Amino acid sequence: MLAGLTCLLVPSLLPAQLQMQKCMICHGKRDFRKILDSGEVRSLYVDLNMLQKSVHAKRICVDCHSDVVEIPHAEPPKRVSCTRCHYKGNPEGAPQTDAYLDYAQSVHAIEVAKGNPKAPVCQSCHGTHDIQHPKKPGSRVFRAAVAATCGSCHLDEFAQYRGSIHGTAVAHGNPDAPTCTSCHGEHRVLAPADPSSTVAPAHVSATCSTCHAAVGIVGKYGIDVEQVATYQESFHGVATKFGSRTVANCSSCHMTHDIRPPADPLSSVNVRNIPATCGHTGCHEGANANYAKGKIHVDPERPEAGIIYYVAAFFKYLTITVMIGLALHIALDFNRKLQALRKGGHE
Ligand code: HEC
Ligand code: HEC
Ligand code: HEC
Ligand code: HEC
Ligand code: HEC
Ligand code: HEC
Ligand code: HEC
Ligand code: HEC
Repeated sequence: MLAGLTCLLVPSLLPAQLQMQKCMICHGKRDFRKILDSGEVRSLYVDLNMLQKSVHAKRICVDCHSDVVEIPHAEPPKRVSCTRCHYKGNPEGAPQTDAYLDYAQSVHAIEVAKGNPKAPVCQSCHGTHDIQHPKKPGSRVFRAAVAATCGSCHLDEFAQYRGSIHGTAVAHGNPDAPTCTSCHGEHRVLAPADPSSTVAPAHVSATCSTCHAAVGIVGKYGIDVEQVATYQESFHGVATKFGSRTVANCSSCHMTHDIRPPADPLSSVNVRNIPATCGHTGCHEGANANYAKGKIHVDPERPEAGIIYYVAAFFKYLTITVMIGLALHIALDFNRKLQALRKGGHE
């Protein structure tokens, strides 16, 4: 079919609609496709209707495919660069925001730069001819849809998240529960091993706490906000604050993507699963059923904490007694020195 066509230049002065129609002669055919070297079939059909319902309704083909200057194409057209129009100060009419510049620092951009073909570029998350405003239900990055978009590559995390208390809540339209981007960020997704990541071991508790320390957010669902305070007071909390990486943070006990309420038999903090959770590789080896007996989130200031309260109280009074003794010792010593000094002065 192409053999019959002589090299035809795309005149850039043609009215926009006419230019589009020129492209649609071939790309408007539903069965227009090519067969890749791998034997895979790639559809070259473009749904004009879809483009015209997208945020880019006013764009024409060559606005984005700016390297298409000849028909038939001298070379297979390259991938579209979104940032050709999307940058602060652009004259194209694209929103004047540079929030997505954060993408450049993300683990995704780093992987793309390394040549990982599986890592996402802008269009992997946003779409191609069907891009909608992120706040619209049809968008792939709409709150209710973004988990499936990230999940198309991160299958295991998505499967676990979908069954979690957070995933089911978001699926039921709960506006307060977290989706992937609430914990990981939108464009600035970093690897957990990166110390500045919101999901790095030292930051996990703070990330959970943005909601779990706020009565206004989780209080509505009958969840106590004490968890955060009691965690911070506990040995685990104090140790993470001082930079220990091996000590428990919220996720060590509750998991990350598979978080479920304690009453759920599948929850890592269900009474029956606590020995296994605490006995985690290298944590409390040999943890037995006794680990499940005491409450974990306890306020050591209250007698309900049982042994913990009494141990805490013992140490509190021990400390006070030692401090008083020490102060007394210093005072006596000072007094003795003072008297010795006075005596010396008289001589
Ligand atoms: C005469 C038919 C024809 C016309 C007209 C045509 N194309 Fe193509 N187009 C093709 C063919 C054939 C390919 C596959 C090229 C290849 O991969 O070797 C292609 C590939 C493409 C691709 C790359 C698809 C991919 O694999 O990612 C883009 C983008 C594209 N065309 C855009 C356009 C635009 C924009 C216009 C209008 C300015 C246009 N085409 C007009 C035949 C046509
Ligand atoms: C808002 C920018 C934009 C506009 C406008 C646009 N495209 Fe695309 N197009 C893309 C992106 C992004 C892709 C995905 C491939 C890539 O990453 O470059 C794509 C892919 C394609 C492909 C490969 C098949 C596919 O669907 O993946 C063809 C063919 C194509 N475009 C032709 C057209 C034609 C013809 C028009 C005009 C009717 C058009 N495009 C308008 C951004 C655009
Ligand atoms: C040819 C210039 C151009 C290119 C290339 C382009 N865009 Fe746009 N984009 C625009 C313009 C102009 C608007 C504003 C449309 C309007 O409001 O009418 C827009 C709007 C958007 C919006 C809506 C955001 C908002 O706050 O309104 C998103 C999301 C978006 N583009 C993503 C992309 C992605 C992803 C790509 C790459 C696949 C891309 N764009 C490529 C020009 C472009
Ligand atoms: C890993 C997935 C992902 C990648 C990659 C990605 N985005 Fe986004 N993008 C999102 C999410 C999620 C939102 C926010 C949705 C919301 O506001 O609820 C968003 C929002 C946007 C918006 C609208 C908000 C605003 O700042 O006005 C634009 C425009 C945008 N992205 C452009 C881009 C561009 C350009 C790139 C490539 C440099 C890109 N995105 C790469 C996921 C992604
Ligand atoms: C097109 C596929 C794709 C999409 C879409 C995608 N990712 Fe990724 N992601 C990757 C690849 C590839 C890597 C780097 C290899 C790896 O470590 O898995 C990666 C890495 C990550 C990492 C670091 C993993 C580690 O072990 O260090 C996190 C976290 C992450 N992505 C979260 C997200 C989130 C959140 C979204 C949605 C907003 C998302 N990804 C969308 C492919 C994708
Ligand atoms: C409640 C917060 C939260 C939500 C929601 C969440 N994550 Fe995570 N994610 C984390 C934490 C914390 C880690 C770090 C775990 C670690 O250090 O092992 C993590 C790690 C990851 C990793 C790195 C590999 C791994 O499993 O450790 C990927 C990939 C990832 N998340 C993708 C996703 C995707 C995709 C979604 C949505 C379907 C999602 N996350 C939702 C908190 C969350
Ligand atoms: C964006 C806010 C937000 C973030 C971030 C968040 N959560 Fe939640 N979480 C919620 C909401 C809202 C619910 C209640 C959902 C419902 O009951 O429908 C909930 C429920 C829970 C429950 C179940 C409580 C019960 O008894 O029903 C646990 C456990 C939990 N979250 C732990 C965590 C942990 C651990 C993290 C961090 C890794 C975290 N959450 C991050 C908002 C959040
Ligand atoms: C050492 C393990 C451990 C750590 C660390 C931990 N939790 Fe818990 N968490 C538990 C256990 C066990 C339960 C269930 C029994 C209980 O309430 O003591 C629980 C219960 C919960 C509940 C449900 C309470 C309710 O009202 O239904 C929430 C919410 C919660 N934790 C959030 C958090 C947050 C947020 C963090 C981090 C700031 C955290 N947890 C740290 C073990 C832990």
